[in-house]
Amino acid sequence: MITRPRRLRQNPVLRKMVRETRMDASSLIYPMFVREGSGIKEEIPAMEGQYRYTTDTMLYALEDLEKAGVRSVMFFGIPDVKDEVGSGAYAEDGIVQRALREARAHFPEMYLITDVCMCEYTSHGHCGLLKGHDVDNDSTLELLAKTAVSHVQAGADMVAPSDMMDGRVLAIRNALDDHGYENTPIMSYAVKYASSFYAPFRDAAGSAPSFGDRKSYQMDFHNRKEALKEAQLDVSEGADIIMVKPAMTYLDIVREVADTVNVPVAAYSVSGEYAMVKAGAKLGCVDEEKIVCEMATGVYRAGACVYLTYFAKEIAGYIEKGYIG
Ligand code: PBG
Repeated sequence: MITRPRRLRQNPVLRKMVRETRMDASSLIYPMFVREGSGIKEEIPAMEGQYRYTTDTMLYALEDLEKAGVRSVMFFGIPDVKDEVGSGAYAEDGIVQRALREARAHFPEMYLITDVCMCEYTSHGHCGLLKGHDVDNDSTLELLAKTAVSHVQAGADMVAPSDMMDGRVLAIRNALDDHGYENTPIMSYAVKYASSFYAPFRDAAGSAPSFGDRKSYQMDFHNRKEALKEAQLDVSEGADIIMVKPAMTYLDIVREVADTVNVPVAAYSVSGEYAMVKAGAKLGCVDEEKIVCEMATGVYRAGACVYLTYFAKEIAGYIEKGYIG
């Protein structure tokens, strides 16, 4: 026998030497929910181990993340009051804007990213303005741009539009540039599928649509070429990072997008992926640590170089201990 693949698997040092996928905690982004009020840290029922923080308790969570080596967070806001036009999304004293100011003041080194969308702020739960029963694309763009600008004014380092309106990356790019923020990057949720894996998130953020679904703006999960179209379009509009979401059942798409565009690709392991791991581990069907390591590695192996996950802190620990990476 000339070729024996097992030769390179003989010992742990050698196995690690020839690894093809390397991971580093600096590529992890932790999604965080911030609500109104103070002194509250409430567990999200569908996402055991994840919490809604108020702007004060959030600081302890940020400290833990920083200690674990996670340097980037993505904020989602949960306002007390919602209305038809989602005004809380772009209010100067909106929940995300206040969280940003607080985080910026206490953790100058943390990299602060915001999810830019309307669904947590609209009374109907859709990601834009309604015209009849449909979400109106073009009138929503202005509000998204306004939201992005107000986030950056409050201290965001990067904005991440997740609404799936056409043309929003360009609208946001122009608005940021007009306000002198030409160096603020945009991470676009370019390839975002209409997925049932978001259910626990909608529970966490109270953002489930009150009627209909999001299929007229999020992508049909049967489609592959459309993912490339969305990714290329957003790159041409100025997106600096392209995200694919969800992750686990879309790794073929992550690979293809990574091979197609010449910007960094991010993947988002969403709330349903997290919830399934937790539930499976609780039932004793799977070993949480081990499958989280395997899922994370799969995402990087597929071509992502940025990973958004509710397990960010844990994964940073696994990398540190040498379980993966
Ligand atoms: C906002 C948004 C959603 C998620 C991220 N940004 C929910 C949705 O589109 O319904 C989902 C994140 C997750 O499930 O973890 N539009």
